[in-house]
Amino acid sequence: MKESSYVQLERKTKELTALFEISKILNSSFEIKTNLYKALRVLSDILEMQRATITLYDPDTNTLQIVVAYGLTEEQIARGKYKIGEGIVGRVFQIGEPMIVPNIGKEPLFLNRTGARLQKDNISFLCVPLKIEDEIMGVLSVDRIFSNEIDLKEDIRVLNIIATLIAQYLKLYQLFSKVRTEKEELTFELKKKYSLQNVIGISDKMQEVFKTALKAAKTKATILLIGESGTGKELIAKAIHFESDRSKGPFLAINCAAIPENLLEAELFGYEKGAFTGALVSKPGKFELANGGTIFLDEIGDLPLSLQAKLLRVIQDKTFERIGGTKSIKVDIRIIAATNKNLEEMIKNGTFREDLYFRLNVIPIYLPPLRERKEDIPLLIDHFLKKFNKEYGKNISITKSAMEKLMNYSWPGNVRELENTIERLVILAEGDKITLKDLPFYITQEVDIKTIGINLKNSLPIQLKLLEKRAIEEALKACNYNQTKAAKLLGLTKRQINYKIKKYALIKNKK
Ligand SMILES: Nc1ncnc2c1ncn2[C@@H]1O[C@H](COP(=O)(O)OP(=O)(O)O)[C@@H](O)[C@H]1O
Ligand SMILES: [Mg+2]
Repeated sequence: MKESSYVQLERKTKELTALFEISKILNSSFEIKTNLYKALRVLSDILEMQRATITLYDPDTNTLQIVVAYGLTEEQIARGKYKIGEGIVGRVFQIGEPMIVPNIGKEPLFLNRTGARLQKDNISFLCVPLKIEDEIMGVLSVDRIFSNEIDLKEDIRVLNIIATLIAQYLKLYQLFSKVRTEKEELTFELKKKYSLQNVIGISDKMQEVFKTALKAAKTKATILLIGESGTGKELIAKAIHFESDRSKGPFLAINCAAIPENLLEAELFGYEKGAFTGALVSKPGKFELANGGTIFLDEIGDLPLSLQAKLLRVIQDKTFERIGGTKSIKVDIRIIAATNKNLEEMIKNGTFREDLYFRLNVIPIYLPPLRERKEDIPLLIDHFLKKFNKEYGKNISITKSAMEKLMNYSWPGNVRELENTIERLVILAEGDKITLKDLPFYITQEVDIKTIGINLKNSLPIQLKLLEKRAIEEALKACNYNQTKAAKLLGLTKRQINYKIKKYALIKNKK
């Protein structure tokens, strides 16, 4: 429609006022939601554009969601979710171009997802992308009461300018948050006093570990590393070696659990030619080869009693003989042992020598499981992302919510499990971000053991049945006893859930 010049003048004045107000609001602070809300209110108050909404893209769910709206209730806002390409909002996001629906009553594409418009006949709908350079961040949309006076093309022109202001504001906010977390990480890094090469840890517990390790590194003392599998015992042993004055000497590791008893003896002490069948030549053992350096005895709890006695002598006298040999060999080595077993318990059972234990336990270092130092998880994730991005030539990052999920998982396999998980995620990643839905189900669906109530008086099959029964009960409750829905929730078929409900007599109490 052609507007009269008076109407045009009045309109220009309003537009300028609105733009001025909005840029003032957006320049005031980074209280993002409050400010966007105020900006939308200006659209409504000055430009008479109603139900203004800002819908943003969420990479975690790959959907669009209303984040701020003026003139909608909380419930209506909550309903404002769209897939890419869905409805007008989804299309504008997809194509990155504005769309006008002159009369929403006549447009089948218009979803009225929020349910905000009771009567649709005299409403136009205007929708523009929130775009900065090539990046589309979301969509700005408004309702306009239909009238011949209004020039919708002119409306779009103004909305485009406002959308640019908002997109710049959002971008600035993103950069600001990034800088802020980077700065926080930096101060975080600076806060840590102790560091060991290649070992990540800012938690108090790990800082304690580093402190003891650094002190011990400067001595010749035997060190015992105690901790669950995958907590970094071998890594720390190596770091201690490289911090010590024998760092130029060899570091040799041997796993006492992986080798059968007689071979283990030969590995550790070496043998002379003819010592046993097959000993065609003489061979030095690890203790000899580690001379001037460090030997790491992993899984020391698995060392057979006969070898425990021989090891004790090495520690006490630094001397031993090769198998079948008579000559005493003297070595200068530091011994670092590691175990995930309770050696004191083993002493009580008579499977570990008490005198050896005291000799090994001069400086004990306890490595806490990962679930007891969640603060270290984000740093470890970053560390492994960098490592595997480099290894696989990728550039994968992780969303905040996926990171949070990983922080709250219990990591029974500790850092080793975390490392393997990140490697798999990097290999399998399709986009450039690891999101919640990329995480394996046992991480996202982990049951809180504490809420199940494990009872060691029951056998495992009975406990599993109790767990199954509990899960079905909970699912039924959550779905208002709708069996189809409960089955879906648990990933069962209707037949399966029906069978289990009968098996556990679960519906009996319900009328
Ligand atoms: N604090 C840590 N920082 C970086 N990587 C770690 C850390 N702890 C463990 N890792 C890595 O996790 C894996 C398992 O560690 P490892 O030392 O073999 O554990 P353990 O000997 O206790 O079973 C290794 O790849 C190791 O490099
Ligand atoms: Mg190990």
